Amino acid sequence: MSHRLSLSRAAHLVGVHRSTLQKMIGEGKLAAAEGMITAQELLRAFPQVNLEASGGIEWVNRIKEESFGRRVRERMLPSQEILAQRLFSQGLELADLRRTVQRYHALVEELGGLLREGFQGHPAQPGALAALSEGLGRALAGDASDAFAAIDEALRVMTPRVEVRPSGREFFVEGHDSILQSGLKAGLQLSYGCGNGTCGLCRARVVDGEVQRIRPHDFTLSEAERAQGHVLMCAYSAVTDVKIETLEAAGPEDIPRQEIVATVRAVSPLGEDTRLLHLQAPRSNRLRFLAGQSASLGAVSPAGDMQGSFAIASCPCDDRNLHFHVGRDDGDTFATGVFSGAIRPGERVTLVGPEGRFVLGREPGRHLVFAACDLGFAPVKSLVEYALSADSAASYTIAWLATRPDGHYLANQCRAWAEALDGFSWMPFRHADAAEGAAELVAGLRAATDFAGTDVYVAGPEAFVHCAEFELRSAGAPAESITALVM
Ligand code: FES
Repeated sequence: MSHRLSLSRAAHLVGVHRSTLQKMIGEGKLAAAEGMITAQELLRAFPQVNLEASGGIEWVNRIKEESFGRRVRERMLPSQEILAQRLFSQGLELADLRRTVQRYHALVEELGGLLREGFQGHPAQPGALAALSEGLGRALAGDASDAFAAIDEALRVMTPRVEVRPSGREFFVEGHDSILQSGLKAGLQLSYGCGNGTCGLCRARVVDGEVQRIRPHDFTLSEAERAQGHVLMCAYSAVTDVKIETLEAAGPEDIPRQEIVATVRAVSPLGEDTRLLHLQAPRSNRLRFLAGQSASLGAVSPAGDMQGSFAIASCPCDDRNLHFHVGRDDGDTFATGVFSGAIRPGERVTLVGPEGRFVLGREPGRHLVFAACDLGFAPVKSLVEYALSADSAASYTIAWLATRPDGHYLANQCRAWAEALDGFSWMPFRHADAAEGAAELVAGLRAATDFAGTDVYVAGPEAFVHCAEFELRSAGAPAESITALVM
């Protein structure tokens, strides 16, 4: 039977995005069954693939070569215990396969002997004999798709796959990461709370496969839960490919309101009137949020309390390092504190949130268009980073209108995305007036984009958002495909 590969693993092996394979399946260019692709089918669709260049071999070699470096060993390689368990499980599997192969080999040898003797005493036809002989030749010579199967086996030792039920989404576990950390990095909206084994919110039931506890946890699972295979995702890693049953957030209503105290790591200029504020949450108390949401920030200084609400500009796949783009605003006490130096590295900031419904839709394979004005780029950046980590969109377009002197303060980031990713385009616009600029921006989008099958996310000042929404609907974008955030 042909070796079967998950969609994510197949994409990894041939060096394309998962969404590219999904598109090919949708267009009938690639056959898949139950979300799996055979190695032969992958080779048929990518006959020119060079495993040396596609990333599969490179990935394994990179780990092998770099594993001598201490930092990389810490980041990339699983603990010795986990690795030993994975190797043991795979050893059992390989031994089983070897026995099967030996049985087939004996059968092939026997048939070969019969062919050489011309099936003496067997009523076989010459044509059937020739076909059988050809088939045996192929079986003995092996198949080019065996290379995929071999690399898949190797990758399973380093990065076991986790399939989540009932959603069917999947991700890989790398290095020392827990199942929870890997799932968040892959863009899944898994249910969790403390991240350190005390709240029990990250419970999952292991349906298939083997997991291993990698850190102690205070939360106690009941006997019945343990008997049913429940574990805490923040305290366990995968030993083999596993299937788990767990909850995922369907929307903002599933994310509880939290209050955490974070530390200012850095305040860096993005322009004359724009600062990047980097807050770091404690390891044991991170902020769970959805990409595109906001948080209220507060701090105390001798001059008085500082308060403000800002869109989170970073991805929930790194829930410990939170970025905010803060614009100069004398009417905002927190922004004033950032520009005056009262909010500086080492200071404590209280975060309350998350807030807002400016989040991505859950339907995969959509074309995503982001229309931002000025600091509206902050929540857009969070959405884009999240969508890229989840690898679920068909294409990305960022249209960014700048009305402030600081302009497109992260243009380099947009250019880098556009250069590095297929199906990613970015369109900068400039105009002194937000409403007139919105009309120009939508006209530019209209010339370049078909709004069918597209979700549009609009963020910025009120005049920009209202005008952009009106122009988008006039251009044929369905109202239900537009999500807007006034900042
Ligand atoms: S997230 Fe709290 S116990 Fe795992």
